[in-house]
Formats: sequence, structure tokens, C-alpha cells
Amino acid sequence: MKQKVEDLDWKNLGFVYRDLPYRYEAKYKDGEWQEGKLIEDSTLALSEGAEILHYGQEIFEGLKAYRREDGKINLFRPDENAHRFALSAERLAMPPFPEDRFVEAVKQVVLANKEYVPPYDSGATLYLRPFMIGTSNVLGVQAANEYTFRIFAVPVGAYIKGLNPADYIVSEYDRAAYAGTGQAKTSGNYASSLLPSVEAHKNGFADCLYLDPREHKYVDEFGGANFYGITQEGQFVTPKSKSILISITKRSLLELAKKQGLNPVERQITLEEAFNMKEAGAMGTAAVISPVGSITYEGKKHVIYSETETGPVTTKLYNELVDIQYGKQEGPEGWVQTID
Ligand code: PLP
Ligand code: COI
Repeated sequence: MKQKVEDLDWKNLGFVYRDLPYRYEAKYKDGEWQEGKLIEDSTLALSEGAEILHYGQEIFEGLKAYRREDGKINLFRPDENAHRFALSAERLAMPPFPEDRFVEAVKQVVLANKEYVPPYDSGATLYLRPFMIGTSNVLGVQAANEYTFRIFAVPVGAYIKGLNPADYIVSEYDRAAYAGTGQAKTSGNYASSLLPSVEAHKNGFADCLYLDPREHKYVDEFGGANFYGITQEGQFVTPKSKSILISITKRSLLELAKKQGLNPVERQITLEEAFNMKEAGAMGTAAVISPVGSITYEGKKHVIYSETETGPVTTKLYNELVDIQYGKQEGPEGWVQTID
């Protein structure tokens, strides 16, 4: 059933699917992308032999639209999502969707569902979920030759606990292999994180922290966000790894941290080192910046900064990032695209 805008409680949206009036769809057939358009039907019709149902040819993105104080709407680095989507497509042997058309389609979906962009100061945003699936019939393991690209939108609140510290547990499982698909945003990575996250939630943790899949020695990332720490010397450090998603929030924070004199660096971070960080956080589109209150490993809980309070460096980075996203502060050139 379509979500009525008047039934939304902007301050208590959670992070759940809702069926909004419009989504964008384009199909790939006969070796090319067809013209796309806005449609109302939220369902998809698939053959039982469709590639996606058997061999997992799926990629997706996540980005947000922010209501500004003047009522206009900001997009944050949508061109970066378009580019990563093309890289993910390449890794999954799928035809890249043209990057300029991706950004254009995102804008069309936002404008068509404009009244669902939450009010300024509600703490909520409109989350855009572009995705692509292989739809043609296959039986042997092979890439599809027909694809569907869609973008739907959902108004959302905080994904983890907002700017409140959350507890994490180090997973014994891996979510991505060393030279696997960890750098691509593809459903298989998330499928392998489901059992670990069910177990983590059952035990009261917000999510799992995954280690590097080769040695289980270095921090990789969370199930739905990258990791950063602030060392005792005040340096912003974040893992360099072949098996993690190249986060757009992470790349943005590396720039903001540099401006704030935090001497940021991407390098391997051992788990022991992570336990001794002055502050730590999860960063991503859905997570924004979510402080780490503790990390539990082999039954022992390691508190980082505080289980109830957010550290000053994290707070400052959060404020600067969010102010740029909402247009309260000007960010580096090209980060924000404003639409009416
Ligand atoms: N890592 C994983 C596994 C994610 O799912 C996400 C979310 O997109 C991120 C990191 C953060 O990436 P971004 O900042 O581009 O949203
Ligand atoms: C995002 O931040 O956009 C993601 O895709 C993370 C997901 C776990 C909700």
C-alpha cells in the first residue's frame, strides 16, 4: 500500500521500507540501456530463471536527500555514488549505467516524491536506493544479458543510534574475501553478514566489526559502515583494505579531518590498536557518524571513550559533515547539489 505523507511521524521514522508514489526504472536489452522513466508500481515481475535469483548479480547504492532551511533540497556527492555504482557493475560483470543518467534519475525520483523529503531539523532524510539486477534466464553460472535498474526512495531516521555510542562485537565470520567483492556494493556481501548480525543483535550489539579475511588481525569494517579511530596522539586513522567498501562518507571525512588538523591516514589498524583508540566511530550514508561505545572480543568488552557520551573529535566531525549536507555550511567544491 502506498505510504501517505500525512501518516508519517518525521521524528520516528526508523530505517524501514515504505512504498512511495514514484520510482525510476530503466532496462538493459540488446546490448544497450533503454530510456528510463518514473513509474508507480513498486513490484517487479521476474522469470523463475532470472539470474538474480540464482547467482546473485545485484548491485546497489545508498545516498540521501536533505531538506535545507530555505526549503530547497540538497544531494550529497551523488556523482560519487554514480561512479561507485559503475565500479560495482564492472566487478559483477554487469553493464555500467551511465553516470550522468544515474544522477539525473536520482533527481527525478527526489522531485517526484518531494513532499516525502523530511522537514529541516527533523533529523530525518530521504534515502535513495538505486539498484540493478540481472533479469534474463540462466541455468549455468553466467552473467545475464538483460538487466533492470531502479531507484526508489524512503524517508528515514537514524540507522544505528544517531550520535549516541553503540556497542559492537568482533565477528568470527568474514563478510567478504580478500580479493572478493568487498569493494563492490553487492548483495552477496550483505547476505554473508546476516547470520553474524542476527547473532550480534540477539546479544545486544548494534552490529559486527569484521576483521581482515586473510589474517584476522586487522580491522576491516562494520556490516554497514566503515571504521575510524582517533589515536591517543589525536590522529584520524581508518583501515586500508582490499575487502572493504570504498565509503564516500569516509573519503569526505578524510578531507574534513585534514582541514581540522587531524593528520588523517588510511592504514592497517590492528584490533589491539583499535581497542586503545581515544575515540572511534562508524561512518556511512545510513550511519552518518555513529560513535563506538565499546568493542567486545573473545568475551571481553573494550570501552572506547565512553559508553554514554560522544567524544569531542567525533562531535566536531559530525557537526561539520552534517552542516555541509544540510547546506548550513559551505563544503568543498562540488560536494553538494541543490535542487528545487
Ligand atoms: N561499508 C559498508 C559495508 C556499507 O554498507 C556502507 C554504506 O553504504 C559503507 C561502508 C559506507 O559507505 P558510504 O559512506 O559511501 O555510504
Ligand atoms: C548505506 O549507508 O547507504 C548502506 O547501504 C548501508 C546499509 C547497511 C543500510
